Amino acid sequence: MFKRYFMFFIVLLIPILFAFGVTYKVGTEASFPPFEYVENGQYVGFDIDLIREIGKLKGFNVEVIDISFDSLIPSLTTGNIDIIAAGMTITEDRQKVVDFTIPYYSGDQSILVRKDSDFDITVLFGNHKIGVQTGTTGDLWVTEHLSDKNIKIKSYWVFHLFKVTEHLSDKNIIPKKNITRYDTFNFAVRDLVNKNIDAIVLDNPVAERFTKTDPVKIVGIIKTEESYGMAVKKGNKELLNLLNSGIQELQKNGKLDELIEKYFK
Ligand code: ARG
Repeated sequence: MFKRYFMFFIVLLIPILFAFGVTYKVGTEASFPPFEYVENGQYVGFDIDLIREIGKLKGFNVEVIDISFDSLIPSLTTGNIDIIAAGMTITEDRQKVVDFTIPYYSGDQSILVRKDSDFDITVLFGNHKIGVQTGTTGDLWVTEHLSDKNIKIKSYWVFHLFKVTEHLSDKNIIPKKNITRYDTFNFAVRDLVNKNIDAIVLDNPVAERFTKTDPVKIVGIIKTEESYGMAVKKGNKELLNLLNSGIQELQKNGKLDELIEKYFK
C-alpha cells in the first residue's frame, strides 16, 4: 500500500519538477538604478532583466534577494545566495573569493553634486563631505586616493579641464572622518540633496540616472574603467558556464543590446 502511494507520488513529482525547474537565489542591492531598483513594489532593472533572460534560455527561475552591497559576497560564500547580479565590478581582490562571469557592461566613477551648488571637481579635496556606498569601488577609490596622507591621485584619472594636481597639498586632503558610508544610494542621494554631504562618488551609469530623477549634476568622471560581471561561488564551474553561455547567446541574438538600449540610453 505504502509502496503504491510512494510510486504515485514520485510519478507526479517528476513532471512538476520539470515544469517549475530550479530556482536560483539572485542577490542584489536594489538602490542602484538602472541596474536594479524597486518600481511599483517590484525589483526591476538591467541586471534583473538580464538574469531572467538567461534563466529563460537555460531553464531556471530567479528569486531576487535584496541585501546590503557589502554582504553580497559573504552571502555567496556561505551559500545563502547562488548568484550576485548587482552591477558588481570585476576586481582582482574579489576574484580571489568569487568567480565572475565574462563582463556584460562597463563604466567609470562619477562625482555627483547638488544641481544648485557651485562645486566642481575640487569638492573631492579639503573640508568637504563625501558619500559612498559601503564596500563599493567608489568607496575603495575615495578611501585609497583621497583620505591618505600619501595621496595617489593622478590627473589623468579625472577628465576635466581642471588640473587636479595643483590642488594636492596636504591641507587639501579630505580627512577620513569626512567620508560617509551608506548602505543604499537612496539615503546617500537624499543626504546630498538635503546638504548633509557635498558629493557622492559612484558608478557613472547610475550617476547619470540620478541626474534625471533628482536635483543633482555630474562635475567629473574618474576614469576607473570598470567591467561589470555576475558572480558565483568560487569553483561553481557548472553555474558559471551556464551564465557565461547565456550572456554569449544574448550578445549574439541582440537581446543584450536591446536591454542596454532600454536601460542606459
Ligand atoms: N560597481 C560598483 C562595485 O562593484 C558598485 C556596485 C553597487 N551595486 C549595487 N547594486 N548597489 O563596487
